[in-house]
Amino acid sequence: MKVTITVNGKETSAEVEDRTLLVHYLRDVLNLTATNVGCDTTTCGACTVLLDGESVKSCTVLAAQADGREVTTVEGLAGEDGTMHPVQKAFHEQHGLQCGFCTPGMVMATVSLLKENPRPTEEQVRAGLEGNLCRCTGYHNIVKAVLAAAEETA
Ligand code: FES
Ligand code: FES
Repeated sequence: MKVTITVNGKETSAEVEDRTLLVHYLRDVLNLTATNVGCDTTTCGACTVLLDGESVKSCTVLAAQADGREVTTVEGLAGEDGTMHPVQKAFHEQHGLQCGFCTPGMVMATVSLLKENPRPTEEQVRAGLEGNLCRCTGYHNIVKAVLAAAEETA
C-alpha cells in the first residue's frame, strides 16, 4: 500500500507492506536512523516519536496508521540553522546521556511531557519517563536535564 506521511515538516511517500512498522518506515525507507529500536516489544521507548504532537512508541504503530498524519523525530527538533531545541540543549548541558542509545526517545518523550506539564516536579518527571529505559542507568542526569529544560522553556 502507499502511505504519505509528513515527517519533520516534509511530505514523504512510499509503497510499504501492510505490516510495516512506523519505526521501520523512518529508519529503512527515510534513512532517519536516530529513532532506535531497543526491544520491539513496546518496553524501552528508544523508538519514541511524536505523532500529531503526541509521543508514541513507533515500534507499535503501523506506517499505515500514520498515513496522512504528521510525525516528528529527533532529527526534526533542531532549528534550520542547527540551533538545538531547548530539550536537546538541556540534555547536552546536564550530561543527560551516556551511550546515547536511549537519548532520541528520551528527548522526544520529554518534549511531549513538557507540552502537557511545563513545570513538572521531579516525581512527575520520573513518572512521565517511566516508559523509557536507559541501559546505562543514567536516570539521574536525565531527570536533571528535563527539569533544566522545564526551567528554560516555562
Ligand atoms: S523499540 Fe519501541 S519500545 Fe522498544
Ligand atoms: S544513555 Fe545509554 S542507554 Fe541511555
